[in-house]
Amino acid sequence: MKQARPSITPSKRALIERIANEVLKLVKPTEKEMKAATFYSNELMGRLKSVVPKNVEIVLVGSVARGTQIRGSSDIDIFLLFPKSMEERKMEELGLKYGKGIVKKGQNESFIIKYAEHPYVKVLLKNENIAADIVPAFKISNASEMGSAVDRTQLHNEFVNAKLSKKQRDDVRIMKTFLNANNIYGAEARIEGFSGYLCELLVYHYGSFINAIEHFSSTTVPVVIDPLNKGKDIQNIKELKSRFNKNIIVVDPTDRNRNVAANVSDASLARLMLVSRRFIREPKASAFMAKGYSDKESKEFISGIKRKTGLDLYLLVFNMPDITEDILWQQLKRLRNGMESVLEHEGFPSTISTQNISEKHGIICFMIRNAKRESVIVKGPSIFMESACAAFLNSHSNAMHILIENDRLFSVEKPRFATPKELAGSLVSGKNISFPSYIKNKGAKLFVNKIPEQYSRLVHESFQEKLI
Ligand code: UTP
Ligand code: MN
Repeated sequence: MKQARPSITPSKRALIERIANEVLKLVKPTEKEMKAATFYSNELMGRLKSVVPKNVEIVLVGSVARGTQIRGSSDIDIFLLFPKSMEERKMEELGLKYGKGIVKKGQNESFIIKYAEHPYVKVLLKNENIAADIVPAFKISNASEMGSAVDRTQLHNEFVNAKLSKKQRDDVRIMKTFLNANNIYGAEARIEGFSGYLCELLVYHYGSFINAIEHFSSTTVPVVIDPLNKGKDIQNIKELKSRFNKNIIVVDPTDRNRNVAANVSDASLARLMLVSRRFIREPKASAFMAKGYSDKESKEFISGIKRKTGLDLYLLVFNMPDITEDILWQQLKRLRNGMESVLEHEGFPSTISTQNISEKHGIICFMIRNAKRESVIVKGPSIFMESACAAFLNSHSNAMHILIENDRLFSVEKPRFATPKELAGSLVSGKNISFPSYIKNKGAKLFVNKIPEQYSRLVHESFQEKLI
């Protein structure tokens, strides 16, 4: 039976508004926090002003500058805008120099270098628990002058500050909280979700948080949003669909060649649709709260896997170097996919696979049906093909039996791996698989069902991302 579309009656709308307002009270930064963020951004910008030459502009960008940050994450984003005529290397070098130069080390301040499109300085203000990124970029006035992707940020700032009302900025905070609770806030590889700027555009386009989730609760894909052209030009929509070829397309109003939702995976889009339907059907505050769990719950979850599903839990643990998580995440995913196809090819398909990364370790989990095999059947070529047939007979000379089924050869032989454990063991030791550059098989470990306590949270978290 077709399920009725959730629709928002006036009384339901009032309820949702009441819940959203309660949530806002919890996630809007306190006056004190906003004051501290303003104070420190002014302080740091003042210091920068005294060291950078006149042709370098200093601007506050990101959610703090737009009034869309959520409590406890008032991270300051300061951009140093260099003239377009400067060489990129020089811009990077000066950006680091000015950024480092203003840190008052030893006085409750320290810094680290982070790597994105360009390296930049992250200043850490210990007592206040505030961090400030000092990012170099080129000064541009429209996207056609863009030298690198970060250059767009200044244009995003202008757009959001010009277009969003105070109420809409609060709605962005509510939207971010809703997405965060469901693990789909952020464009990073681990999440592949909705970035802060994307939330701002969604609230701008649909007008409010409620309207945005109402849309996602009942839309079909692809979702195509062109904020400067509110869906009226059908020809344009058609063109966008074929140009970007994604299930969600949000044209950047500051750069028509950019899909702001480019990093949103189908899984994140699908999850947003599901949680929006659920929330509208039954609005409750818990929809905004991230699921947390204790170590005890993690252990119980893990022991429940075997008991409830009968499947074996394979845990592979790798040591991780100290580089950007985005890169490690993608490499771990490539390794996981590679291993998954080997497992499948060798006859031990994993039903579910997950991954996770902590400070030091990367993990891959597979759920695999237990099996022990004395023999496997290998399909050979048609006997009508003479040379292929000869080659098969030659390379399968150790087979227990060679059979003919119709015109084809089949061999019954001893498998390369009798159990999934043997195969997994060979994979962690780097055999039968190629490892990506930053992940090494040296020191890698394999556990089956008996998961050491130190990994239980990582494992649980990795599954949690898939569960609904
Ligand atoms: P942030 O990641 O700090 O996002 O990037 P944000 O909007 O301030 O949101 P929160 O509250 O910290 O989570 C700062 C700005 O850099 C640009 C966007 O304009 C963003 O608002 N940016 C960032 C991009 O254009 N692309 C990215 O992948 C990341
Ligand atoms: Mn930010």
